[in-house]
Amino acid sequence: MELDWLVVVLRWLHVIAAVLLAGGILFWCCVLRPAASELDEAAGTALRQRVAARFSKIVMLAILLLLVSGLINFIRINRSLPADANKMFYHSLFGIKFLLGLVVFFLASALTGRSPAFEKLRANGKTWLGVTSTLVVAVILISGVMRVYRDGLCARAAAAAVQQAPAAAEPAN
Ligand code: HEM
Repeated sequence: MELDWLVVVLRWLHVIAAVLLAGGILFWCCVLRPAASELDEAAGTALRQRVAARFSKIVMLAILLLLVSGLINFIRINRSLPADANKMFYHSLFGIKFLLGLVVFFLASALTGRSPAFEKLRANGKTWLGVTSTLVVAVILISGVMRVYRDGLCARAAAAAVQQAPAAAEPAN
């Protein structure tokens, strides 16, 4: 079987970027923030600012990788879907995932950035980290459904092609 290396590399990039972004957000929400809140206020704020400064670079890189690999992946997958398959559900899932992904990108950038416009959001970090964590998990769950549904579409098309092939091969009397 031929291996399409472009697909493999895009998949690696997408998964690594997703792990960096989702893992970082969930670690921050579930481990780091509660631990930092046990420190006195000045130490907690200093720790939060240092973590945000470092994590913001990872967030920017992950956003770039997810957008580039995700869009190329989507175009390639879309082209490879069987022409007669019902793609509406797959496209709806992609639309929802894309929108939720953009919200995650915005929240992660605002939480790790230094813009005064989002100071209130950072001050309310517990709530917004919780929201961002929930959304990033939702994006991962939707990605799983997309994958399984797409495999189903392709498997059904392949089975239909096998059923039609012997009939087409039968000599006409
Ligand atoms: C929070 C951001 C995101 C996360 C955590 C995420 C996560 C994932 C994961 C875990 C997969 C499954 C990978 C696999 O089966 O190999 C996936 C697949 C995919 N993602 Fe993303 N993703 C994100 C953003 C995006 C964006 C912005 C796009 C589009 C521009 C995108 C497009 C896709 C596509 C097309 C697939 C393939 C789905 C399929 O197998 O049918 N993703 N994503």
